[in-house]
Amino acid sequence: MDTTEPFASQHGRHQLAQQMKVEPGDGLSSYVSQLTGNPFFSAGFGLAALAAAARIGQKGIQHGASLIRRRMLVDLEVTHHDDAYPMLLNWMTAFHRAQHTGAQLSKSPKNTASGGVLSSLIQRFNPRLHHLQVHTVLPKDGPSHAAHFSFVPGHGRQILRYGTSFILVDRQREKTLNIAKGEPFETISLTTLYSQREVFEQIFTEAHQLYQQMHEGKTVIYTSMGPQWHQFGEAKRKRPLESVVLERGVKERIVQDVQAFLEARTWYLDRGIPYRRGYLLYGPPGTGKSSFIQALAGHLDFDIAILNVSERGLTDDRLNHLLTKVPRRTIVLLEDIDVAFMNRKAPGSDGYSGATVTFSGLLNALDGVASAEERIIFLTTNHVERLDEALIRPGRVDMTVRLGEATEYQIDLLWDRFYAEVDSSGEAKKRFMARVKELGQSNSLSTAALQGLFLYNKDDADGAIKMLEGLTAGQDSQPGHVDIKGHVDV
Ligand SMILES: Nc1ncnc2c1ncn2[C@@H]1O[C@H](COP(=O)(O)OP(=O)(O)O)[C@@H](O)[C@H]1O
Ligand SMILES: [Mg+2]
Repeated sequence: MDTTEPFASQHGRHQLAQQMKVEPGDGLSSYVSQLTGNPFFSAGFGLAALAAAARIGQKGIQHGASLIRRRMLVDLEVTHHDDAYPMLLNWMTAFHRAQHTGAQLSKSPKNTASGGVLSSLIQRFNPRLHHLQVHTVLPKDGPSHAAHFSFVPGHGRQILRYGTSFILVDRQREKTLNIAKGEPFETISLTTLYSQREVFEQIFTEAHQLYQQMHEGKTVIYTSMGPQWHQFGEAKRKRPLESVVLERGVKERIVQDVQAFLEARTWYLDRGIPYRRGYLLYGPPGTGKSSFIQALAGHLDFDIAILNVSERGLTDDRLNHLLTKVPRRTIVLLEDIDVAFMNRKAPGSDGYSGATVTFSGLLNALDGVASAEERIIFLTTNHVERLDEALIRPGRVDMTVRLGEATEYQIDLLWDRFYAEVDSSGEAKKRFMARVKELGQSNSLSTAALQGLFLYNKDDADGAIKMLEGLTAGQDSQPGHVDIKGHVDV
């Protein structure tokens, strides 16, 4: 652009006047020399040259960019269905928060001392998030109106600085959701320099650690959504095993059995036996079946995947599919399996068997493809008399346990859990137990009903004794013990 400068100055105007004087007879050479000396012409020529150069440059940049993309960058895609997806999102949220409050995430790379000026400049540059998504958590143990909002990176592109590396984060939502094929409908892709690709490993290690920290002491509950398992709500605090009061020795037997199973992995695999074990808990409602399984999962450090077999829309195919895709270290809990037995009709010619699981569908799913991972299934039912022997054969159900109405042993323990402090001498407990016998209520009240009574009369032992009479004995009379032959029972 220098050629245009003379216009601006006095000196330039003078120069221009001189050059404009055409001397006759000088011929072509002087014409050319005048022309090239002409600032208008040379400015135009310069501009044209510049434009051409720019065009070439642009092409070059495009070429270069694609070359760089191919050669120097590395992409990493995480789909919605991968276990790393929630970990990564969670990590990104925590990472941005930490970066903007100046805190360090547990193991973020420290500022490299050797990096000099450039790296110290880079360290100062913290790209901001421009697309946010709100994630609201209503704490279960705070006041009901309390809420905690956190901002997670929303959809679109953003730059993230990790140590001295920059990463382009692109969170995309697909327009179509293909439930049938279980295709991803959301992906996060990370792009960084090929030479810095090791940051991915660091990020994922960190994300995993962070996720584990968040879930320590918690049990994740999964429920089914289409053909996939999805975490249901926030992870729950582990339920202590002691909080579930069962008849003497029952808990211990089940826990021992599961633990022995978990230790026998190679034994199963060496013999080519599918590595799985099934348990059936039956008994009247409110006797602690679901609660016990939850506590057991916590005790073993497992998560729980719950399926309600009576749920409408759960077909045989979906059940089968879901059981082959259970997350790691997760107990499968199939509630109310008796419903499948009312549904004995065989699938029609089109393979459609109605909107619920059928009996044969349930058996097939239980027999399903053996996975290398352990599979622990708990089945529960309130109506054991409706079950078929075909279900209760080893390999499908290996252990059957009845959880019945509260025995004196259980009432005693449950009392202590509520009144150990107000009734330290145990005097009120004696009166309560005497009253239970007087009313003929031992072995006829559900633990849930007793818990309700104690909760209502919290810190008021006498109130509980007075109200005992009003407590209705066993809701609907259930057959006590059903003899299932050839079968381990507790
Ligand atoms: N044996 C028990 N020990 C402690 N709590 C129990 C017991 N049985 C029932 N409860 C309480 O009663 C409620 C219902 O129990 P739940 O486990 O859902 O029963 P079920 O699955 O047998 O119908 C829960 O709040 C649980 O804490
Ligand atoms: Mg239940």
